[in-house]
This record gives sequence, structure tokens and C-alpha cells, in this order.
Amino acid sequence: MDRVSAVEAFAFGRFNEIEDAKWRTRAIYHSHAVSLLCVLLARKRGLDAETAAIAGLLHDFYAYERRDYADHAHRGAARAKEILETLGLTTPRENETICSAIYHHDDLTVTDGPMDELLKDADLVDNALSHPARAAKENEAARLEKLREELGLRAERS
Ligand SMILES: [Fe+2]
Repeated sequence: MDRVSAVEAFAFGRFNEIEDAKWRTRAIYHSHAVSLLCVLLARKRGLDAETAAIAGLLHDFYAYERRDYADHAHRGAARAKEILETLGLTTPRENETICSAIYHHDDLTVTDGPMDELLKDADLVDNALSHPARAAKENEAARLEKLREELGLRAERS
């Protein structure tokens, strides 16, 4: 089994244990969607797709496991480190990259490293695509506009 599939099997195995159907569905859907978007953006930006996919799969793991979004990026980075070290599939350097991306993924108005930015963007794109009629929040608008240009999308009709 490849590394992304192994991390996915671990994460989705846990998510399948979530009793509440709405949380369970959301955990699997969102983690999968963000992981795919991470790969897409990694291919576009010349970053490592496998590391990106794993960051996407684990980025909200803590929040879904605890059913708690409070400080989930920072706490989630520590949880992801535990998981990655337990699974033993990734190098310390990859773990650092993945956990840094998870740590920063809620800081939409600042610019961090390339993989940190990639995860923020993938998370935002999933949220934006899932709710196309919803207006962008103040802290999302500039980033979404930059992504629209990067991906060559047309401006939204008003
Ligand atoms: Fe997310």
C-alpha cells in the first residue's frame, strides 16, 4: 500500500468510528477533498504531492477526533506529529513540513512557507467550492482572488 493510502486508511478508519453521521460524513469528505486539492496545487506549484496529500488528510484530524475546532490548527499539528511518528511512514523532515502546514493552516491573512500556503489554499478552495453562493469572509477574499488568478478561473458573476 502506498503511503498516502496508508494514512488515508488510518484517518478514515478513525473517522468511520464517529457516531454522529453529519460529522462522520464531513470528516471523510472534507479531508479527502482537501487532500486532492493539495495534490492539484502541489503539481501546479512544483511541490511534493505525496507530502501535500498527507497534510490534507490529517489537517483537521484533531478537530474531528475531538469534535472541537478550538485552536485546532496548533493542537492538530501536535496530534498529526504523534500519528506520523506512530505510522512511521514519513521522514522527520517530511513530518516537519506536514506539521508546519497543519500548524499554520488557519492563519489566512499571513504568508508562511510554500507548503503552509498550499494547505491554507486547498482548505479554502474546498470551503469555497462547497458553498459557491456564500460570500467570501473578510479574511478569505484576497486569498481567493489570488487563487482565482492562479487557476485561471473567471471572475464570479455578481
Ligand atoms: Fe479544513
